[in-house]
Amino acid sequence: MKNGTVVYPGSFDPITMGHLDVICRAAAMFDELIVVVMSNPNKFCSFTPEERVEMIRQSVQTLPNVKVDYYNGLLAEYARQCNASAIIKGLRAMSDFEYEFQMALANKKLNPDVETLFLTTSTQNMYLSSSMVKQIASMNGDISDFVPPIIHDTILRRLKQNG
Ligand code: PNS
Repeated sequence: MKNGTVVYPGSFDPITMGHLDVICRAAAMFDELIVVVMSNPNKFCSFTPEERVEMIRQSVQTLPNVKVDYYNGLLAEYARQCNASAIIKGLRAMSDFEYEFQMALANKKLNPDVETLFLTTSTQNMYLSSSMVKQIASMNGDISDFVPPIIHDTILRRLKQNG
């Protein structure tokens, strides 16, 4: 089944193995997947949008139908501009659901042409989040199982600079 273009939005601060798992699985299902770095007004980000885009680019370089972008605006509007048929979201636990459900309904209201599709996380990534990765790294813990190997050193270097 191939269904045109879909978008996978997030803060990706930074991209984790959980995000990459969703990207690989969605890329196998659709013609084109656009991973879009966006602002989440509820989150403080440690990496600039440019850094987040670059880390994702490096992590997906073997996936030919995956593009990476940044958009500072409404997701529903971005999906319209890309002519996307769906927004892809990863769900880790029931605790994600209420917030994601609310966003899916709001996005549907703002852009009735776009569906939100949820992929359940793989069990090994159920507990994984960008904020957990940053916390472990900042306390000198080992994050090598949690982030794509190609960006591991970049993350550590940048978080050290932040102090
Ligand atoms: O990885 P995150 O932080 O859970 O991603 C949340 C994100 C960036 C997808 C969400 O905050 C978002 O869609 N931001 C764009 C602004 C927008 O469209 N807000 C209305 C959503 S109902």
